[in-house]
Formats: sequence, structure tokens, C-alpha cells
Amino acid sequence: GATKVPMSNLEPNAYINYQRIEDNLAIVRDRLRRPLTLSEKIVYGHLDDPHHQDIERGTSYLKLRPDRVACQDATAQMAILQFMSAGMDTAAVPTTVHCDHLIEAQIGGVKDLARAKDINKEYGLGFWRPGSGIIHQIILENYAFPGGLMIGTDSHTPNAGGLGMVACGVGGADAVDVMAGLPWELKCPKAIQVNLKGKIGGWTTPKDVILKVAGILTVKGGTGAIVEYTGSGVESLSCTGMATICNMGAEIGATTSLFPFNHRMVDYLNATRREDIANYAKRFQHNLKADENAEYDQTIEIDLSELEPHINGPFTPDLATPISKFAAEVEKNNWPADLKVALIGSCTNSSYEDMTRSASIVKEAADHGLQTKSKFTVTPGSEQVRATIERDGVIKAFEDAGGLVLANACGPCIGQWDRRDVKKGESNSIITSYNRNFTGRNDANPATHAFVASPDVVTAMAFAGDLRFNPLTDTLTGTDGKPFKFSDPSGFELPPRGYDAGENTFQAPPEDRASVQVAVSPTSDRLQLLKPFKPWDGKAPTDLPILIKVKGKCTTDHISAGGPWLKYRGHLENISQNCLIGAINIENEEANKVKNQITGEYGGVPQTAAYYRDHGIKWVVVGDHNYGEGSSREHAALEPRFLGGLAIITRSFARIHETNLKKQGMLALTFVNPEDYDKVQPSDRVDIVGLESFAPGKNLTLVLKHQDGSKEEIPLAHSFNEGQIEWFKAGSALNLMAARAKE
Ligand code: F3S
Repeated sequence: GATKVPMSNLEPNAYINYQRIEDNLAIVRDRLRRPLTLSEKIVYGHLDDPHHQDIERGTSYLKLRPDRVACQDATAQMAILQFMSAGMDTAAVPTTVHCDHLIEAQIGGVKDLARAKDINKEYGLGFWRPGSGIIHQIILENYAFPGGLMIGTDSHTPNAGGLGMVACGVGGADAVDVMAGLPWELKCPKAIQVNLKGKIGGWTTPKDVILKVAGILTVKGGTGAIVEYTGSGVESLSCTGMATICNMGAEIGATTSLFPFNHRMVDYLNATRREDIANYAKRFQHNLKADENAEYDQTIEIDLSELEPHINGPFTPDLATPISKFAAEVEKNNWPADLKVALIGSCTNSSYEDMTRSASIVKEAADHGLQTKSKFTVTPGSEQVRATIERDGVIKAFEDAGGLVLANACGPCIGQWDRRDVKKGESNSIITSYNRNFTGRNDANPATHAFVASPDVVTAMAFAGDLRFNPLTDTLTGTDGKPFKFSDPSGFELPPRGYDAGENTFQAPPEDRASVQVAVSPTSDRLQLLKPFKPWDGKAPTDLPILIKVKGKCTTDHISAGGPWLKYRGHLENISQNCLIGAINIENEEANKVKNQITGEYGGVPQTAAYYRDHGIKWVVVGDHNYGEGSSREHAALEPRFLGGLAIITRSFARIHETNLKKQGMLALTFVNPEDYDKVQPSDRVDIVGLESFAPGKNLTLVLKHQDGSKEEIPLAHSFNEGQIEWFKAGSALNLMAARAKE
């Protein structure tokens, strides 16, 4: 067979590299001398340096070489802008951008970016226009392959585990690194085994497997681990069903979830015109399943033959109730029994199988003359699924029953839902086949009780209009006055007449990129091209003011607030107006009120920082313990850099934020003696001594110049390695990569 097999039909020049996995594993096996789990094989198969990399699950940090990057519109902007600022010709690994989270009316900055579809032309990015579908379905249909390693700027990236890919959700900073050719760093994952016995059937679906697992492991139970499914029960799951399970593994905090390569994946690859990949994977299938006797950190057993459909929620996805007990729970907890809206689809559950099974329920109800009692919405996951179910009469069946088919986008799942049937604050219930059900997620109403179930259960419930209905045991009354019970749902794993690709919404990178310019409106308040940060000037920093001495907890939310600010995430200047506005100034115990050490006036933190910058004065921040904990938000490192900061000096850092600061060319320094934090007066000027011989493991010195004229010298530690010192000197990691790319 062919030895050069493209990763995707859309990228004929980028090939699957199973040989690297084979070669890496030979080295790793020789070192570890023990059986490996499936996730270990794929992850270690992508090590940057298999000879020297420390490998200890749950402890060491792995440097990995992913095969691809996927970005969704809401999180991609800053990543792409940063990448663009580096001036590289093309992304180091195949990268796609997907317009799915933001609808037209709210698309703001992304629309500018999308309109500048030229970004793909110039940088070799594959661009999926609005209407193409939801990122994770597009990935499954076109890009995922067994044994691959992918990162994506969205939490449900693990969906691709249904095709045997290790696919992890990351922040934009990680995406930029990989696009620019840096290795991706991941804490060596633990492995949780979910062993499936028996056979799935009746009303029980793959969704119920993950609803059950979420109930067992809870929302934190998968943290730092890859969940690996094993056992004979796997064979009874369709490929898209496995994807549903992996998708919702995000709800238990897992790094990702994964299934071994099998014939159900082959069927799906064939149906999506990827026979070459299926055949190539068969030749390497020894690397696409766990070794015998591989050891896991934890094992769970589930018998699919015994598994009941589950309903999880409200307000949290790990509150799992089997359907036979659900009516009693509704009564006991006073959850509103009246079901207002039933919603199927989303990136989690919108396969052809899901849609045709739901249609079988709808058709049976229609045979008894019924229309849905609750509102019923359908969100197709992709244009391909939408076009196929339209051709096959499924959309008509939904619409005839009173259903509303929405755009191929995230829609109500991400709160793009102009809900009018209940007032804000009014207690009510909805049920979805989505994955997340946190308070207010779907409709911004904190009184909405959102439940999560399989599309089958959601669809049946739409006809009952009551949460206490159990389609396995209860009857509905037809228009003829006779009671009937639903049959077991049935559908098609794959479309018997093949997929209909629908409208072409993909924009491939053209051959000749030189002629294209990226156009970003200079008046856009949501999108702004980035300029590379300046390299270090080589001068010893002296007399720097302290922008703020932060007291206590300072998370990335304190440093770069979310909420309404997110609309500016593609505009560094605008979003920098939130820099450190949540941090408490130790001087006056207030947030966003600091003294400008030049004018003597009090003002906001970002305004004061900008004043210093505009007057050519670099500044430092002094912080407490675990500075920068929380989400890995890259803006928390970009903003202080943009506003002219030189160093953040703390008692300790949250690791990811510390690395993010280094990447942006900032000095992340810590007090050797944490009590030295107390010696710093907010009005001090400081010198940082020792940068001319900046070296790994070698302390720097902070000279505090107090207002009374006295001075103190205190030692500062740092964790920069050789490469990171180069980042600092170059002005940022990206600058360094760009310079190397030009060499
Ligand atoms: Fe979109 Fe909801 Fe999935 S926001 S990516 S459909 S979880």
C-alpha cells in the first residue's frame, strides 16, 4: 500500500507519520521496560526527544509534537494575531479555523477576521466559513485519524478520540506555540481505564456511557488523566457514538478520552472517503491499542447490557440519575416537571445515527397523530450532516412534528439563543443532548434547570412535555384516544446512500500566497493587528516604579477579567484596559487604584501602566503566592507586556502563567526568601541587577530604593532555562521563532 498517506483529503501535502510513533516507541520501551497503555503509545509516540525526555505519569512535563491545530472563532483571534505578528510564511503544522461559536450578529471581530479570509491565504490556514458546522464535527469528518495528536482551542476537542486521536483542548498560547513550531508542553497524563462489557442496545446509547462515567468520576475526577475505553463492549459502539463519549469527557476534567482503533472506525473512515487512512491504520494497529497488562491509575467497569439511559443535571453534568429513578427525583427536588424546551444536536450528539434515531421516535409519534408538546430544536453539527438528513427526509420529519432546525453552529449550546418563552428569573426546565449544563449557559437565565440526556430521551420527552415521562415504561395517548408506548429507537450508523457534502464551506489555502494581503480595518474596536514586542535593549534596569504591589490572591481573572471584556480579545490595546483591575493594591486595599509615582496622582492600573510606557519608563509588579493561578488565559501575560512591564516579582507563580509571561518576553522572578515580599514598599524604585549575565540557576538581585533614601538588596530566583533566556532577549518566544524561521 501507499506509504505516504495524507492526514486529510483537504491537505494532500501533509502526511500521517506512523513511522515516528513506531520509532519513538522503540526508544521509550527500551527505557521504560513495561507494557504501555494506548494513550501512552500515542502521546510518547509524539515526543520531541524520546531519548532524554523524563517520563513519569502525573509528574513530568512532556514536550510533544502535535500533528495539527484547530481553532474556533471565539478563542482563535489572539492566537492567530500573535502568529501573524511573527511574520512567518506558514503555520508549522496544518491548522484550521472554524466559524461556529459566534453567530453573524455577534461575530464582531471575528467577522473582520473572517472577511479577511485572506488570513488563510497568507498563512496557509484552512478556513471554515460560518455555516460549515461545529469545529468538532468538521474535525471528525475531515481531519481526525487514529493515532494522531491534535490540540484545539476549545474544551470539546477530545471529540476526535472517537477516531482514536489524542485530541486536547488548550488555550490560545499553546496554539500559537505549535503554529510557530515550538513543542507543546503537557504534564504527563495519568491513565484511567473504563472497561466496557456487554452490548449496548434498546434505549441505551453511547451518551449514557459518559453520563454514567460523569456520575462516577464527578466533574474533577478526570483531571490530569486520559480516559481510555477498553473491553469487548467497545465493539457495540458506533464511531460517532465513541466521539460523543470522548466529547463529553471534558465534563469530568479529563485531558482527553480515547478509544482503540477498530472496525467501527474503519467503517466511518470509509464512509467519509478516507479508505487510505483506514488501510494505513490497519498496518500500524499494534500501536493503536493498549498493550496487554498495561497498568492504569484507576479502573472502572461498566456493563453496557445492564446500563440504563441516564439524565444528568440540573446545573452540573455529574449529577447522574438513571431514568427509572428520575421521576421520583423530579418530585423530591421540586424540579419544574413541565418541560419547556427539548434541544437535540450540538457538537456532542448530531451524527447521522443520532438524527435518524430521533427521527424514528418522531415518526412513531406522528403515526399516532402527535406533535411535540415542548418546543423542539435541532442543531446539526455540520453542513454534511444537515445536507444528508435533509436529502433523507429527516429534517422534514422534525419540522412536521413542530421542530425547528437551527443553523449548523453552536447556537443555544453557547447561549446564542434568543429565548422568549420564559422570562429571565422564571423557574423552568429544559433538556438537551448537549454536554454542558452549568447555570445560565444556554439561555442566561439562572432559574433554568438544564438536564442532559441522549437525543433519544430528549426527543421522546418533547412529546410528553413532562420530565417525569419514562419512554421505556410509560405510554402517551394518540389522537385516536388510544395509549401507545414508543418502540426502541432505531437509526442508521452511517447513511445508506452515503453522505451528501452539502454546500462547500471550506476555504483551502491557495498555492500562491505571496499576492495576498491581510486586511484588518484600522477602525475596528474588536480586532487589531499585533506588532512584535521589542527585543531587550541590553540595559540594566534601574529606578523602575512598582505599578502595583498586589495583596493576596491574584488569578488570571484578576489580571485579565473575562465577561464583557471578551469581546475585545482580538484587540490587545482595548482589552489591556482590564489589566490587573481585579488585583488588590496592598497600599490602600483597593482594586484598580494605584499611585502614579511620577505625577503622584491615583488612577486606574492600566492607565497608570500606559502612562509609564508612554514616558519610556519600564515597571514591575510585585505579587503574592501562586500569582496567575486559574485558567491559562494568554491575555494575562500579553497585557502587562503590551503596557510596558518588564518584570513580575512574586512569592510564587502558578506554573502556566509563569511560562506564559516568559513566552511574552517578561521576567518572571520570585523572592528567594518569600518574607522579602514584606520589605517592598509600594513607593520604592527598584533596580534589577545581574541581567548582563542572565543564566539558568543563577539568582538576580533586586535593589529596593526606599523613599527615605535607604536601600535594601534582596535575592531573586528564576526558573528560566537557556532557551527561555533567549526568548527574553529576543523580546518574546515568537520573535525568536520568527528569527529562526528566516535564517
Ligand atoms: Fe459548540 Fe457547544 Fe460544542 S459551544 S463546540 S456545540 S459544546
